[in-house]
Amino acid sequence: MAAKIVVTQPVHAEQLQRLRDAGHEVVALDSPHGLSPEELIEHTKDADALLSQLTDKLTADVFANTTLTIVATIATGYDNIDVAAAQKAKTTVTRTPDVLTDATADLAMTLMLSVARQIPESDASTREHGTGPFQLLREPMGIDISGATLGIVGLGRIGEALAHRAHFGFGMKILYTARSQHPAAEDRFGAVRLPLGQLLAQSDVVSLHAPLNDETRHLINRDTLKLMKPNAILINTGRGPLVNEKDLAEALLDNTIAGAGLDVFENEPDVHPDLLAAGTKTVLTPHIGSATAKTRLAMASLAVDNILAVLAGEPPLTPVG
Ligand code: GLV
Repeated sequence: MAAKIVVTQPVHAEQLQRLRDAGHEVVALDSPHGLSPEELIEHTKDADALLSQLTDKLTADVFANTTLTIVATIATGYDNIDVAAAQKAKTTVTRTPDVLTDATADLAMTLMLSVARQIPESDASTREHGTGPFQLLREPMGIDISGATLGIVGLGRIGEALAHRAHFGFGMKILYTARSQHPAAEDRFGAVRLPLGQLLAQSDVVSLHAPLNDETRHLINRDTLKLMKPNAILINTGRGPLVNEKDLAEALLDNTIAGAGLDVFENEPDVHPDLLAAGTKTVLTPHIGSATAKTRLAMASLAVDNILAVLAGEPPLTPVG
């Protein structure tokens, strides 16, 4: 049966064509930003499916005022979706895990190396002043990543892919926090599970990969930052609100920690001005963890697969929960 599918933001044309080819009506809103609950209700009142993204705000109100069969978000994180309300409304919610694991772990590794070796600052100064004479005792010096200790907060798929790169590529010692023990990671990487406080105290680099929820919001704050080593680097490619940005900026400015590489921010699209003031101690990127051509296409394609399956009465491929 033909269904009405609303698409909130721009998506690969060939993926939308797959929906049309299956006989469905596609309403592509192509909004340049995420949709508010009011906008979502207005546009999806009579829709069967929604192809959404992480900036769309799928609150309980949306599920109470629509009759969507499926919401397929083109993202692995789903903190923008009230999943309990969706379940109550009998709306299936799907996401796009796995296909973005490598690209996101690659970016976490990139940020780690960029902060440690001051790549943006070195690039800018080389463009402006040339290399200058070679100096054995140049300042500032970089921080060694090879052989350092990496603390992974949340050893899920992306955390594990980062552990693989860090351990086998850079000889890093791996510590982790997780709700449960990961015997396979312990065997493969010699990873050691610790409570958060001990992980922060022992790590040279801390990388955040926990989902955002009430327990993890502001996990990194003034108190937890104080537990970290003064030469430590914080990496966040997960979700911005895992970190209290004001506290982080303060910790960078008063040398509580050495640097931060951030791909996600507490109030996207804004970046806290104090973080910008921390200057060369931070490397900032605009939520591009999964932004390679191959990965973004795979994400869109998996979301479309989910919609086609559910509308055909089949089970979703990658449901939330
Ligand atoms: C990106 O942040 C995602 O959750 O896919």
